[in-house]
Amino acid sequence: MKHPTSRAMISATGMSVPDKVVTNADFERIVETTDEWITSRTGIRERRMCAEGENTADMAAEAGRRALEDAGLPPEDVEILILSTATPDHLLPATACEAQAILGCENAAAFDISAACAGWLYGVALADAMVTSGMHDNVLIIGSEKMSAILDYTDRTTCVLFGDGAGAALVTRGNGNGRGILATHMRTNGRQAHLLWRPAGGAAMPSTDVTRSEHMEYVKQEGREVFKQAVVAMEDSCRRVLEIAGMTISDIDLVIPHQANIRIIDAVTKRLEVDDERVFVNIDRYGNTSSASIPIALDEARRQGRVGAGSKLLMTAFGGGLAWGASVVVL
Ligand code: UT7
Repeated sequence: MKHPTSRAMISATGMSVPDKVVTNADFERIVETTDEWITSRTGIRERRMCAEGENTADMAAEAGRRALEDAGLPPEDVEILILSTATPDHLLPATACEAQAILGCENAAAFDISAACAGWLYGVALADAMVTSGMHDNVLIIGSEKMSAILDYTDRTTCVLFGDGAGAALVTRGNGNGRGILATHMRTNGRQAHLLWRPAGGAAMPSTDVTRSEHMEYVKQEGREVFKQAVVAMEDSCRRVLEIAGMTISDIDLVIPHQANIRIIDAVTKRLEVDDERVFVNIDRYGNTSSASIPIALDEARRQGRVGAGSKLLMTAFGGGLAWGASVVVL
């Protein structure tokens, strides 16, 4: 664990989701499914969907703008803008560049990172390292996902699960009062990459009429296998990060898990022996927003007054890669 005086902290947050709400009943009209199946198997009741022309960079910029407003920091003072996304608006350049332009972070270096659902937590680790090393003071880390652009709306096993949205946090130098990013644990298992991926549309398999007709540009997932691995990996990451931070689960005020499935959240938190009151859940309203899910939840938890300065958080994510991790943060 780092010495308190050399910590970086999360000093502000923001989020942005599209106005359009898509309910489970809407999906009953598109694929062979029921509200009952989706609700009982996943915990999702509705999710947001971008309007025509509303993109990953727009949501990212708005979430970032709100985080900067929360911090009282002018956009020109951001030194690094990191954008985590699995749904870049273009394959070149990074979507962070467009978000930077919209936000007016004129003095920032901006780049994307790609670690699917774990991406925002990985980005926080990167921001933490940049600040604690003395390299930078103000790092904006955003998770933004337009999942609706990469979903196969003929595949009921995936299309009902995901939603669009963005969340952001500003990472700055700690104030020496105990606030800060205490510890992070990250792991990846690339051998299992095929369990959650988009086979075509990249350099290895460019889009052709054949790939398009077989829907290979869209998200494919072996849900049951990902589920099993998620539970084991998130529990393990949480235990390890608590140990690095010198804490036990009883020290934690709120667990903010990646919102992929309420049954995964319940299984992980039951194994960790944490009661429901200390677990943040908003999957019912947003579905799985990939790397935006934790920063959206964090911002909502702050705005609802469930956490504030000094609260001890345990955040954990798991997703494509397979990539996962956990962080302990004193807000
Ligand atoms: O964030 C990235 C990481 N991703 C995750 O963490 C997701 C992990 N996986 C899951 O959340 C779950 O595995 C799912 C929600 C994807 C699926 O739930 P499940 O309880 O594992 O269901 P299953 O895949 O075992 O499927 C059970 C049945 C199947 O029918 P048969 O073969 O038993 O006849 C599916 O075809 O449910 C069927 N099914 C559906 N039925 C109605 C699958 N999707 C649907 C649907 N509506 N939308």
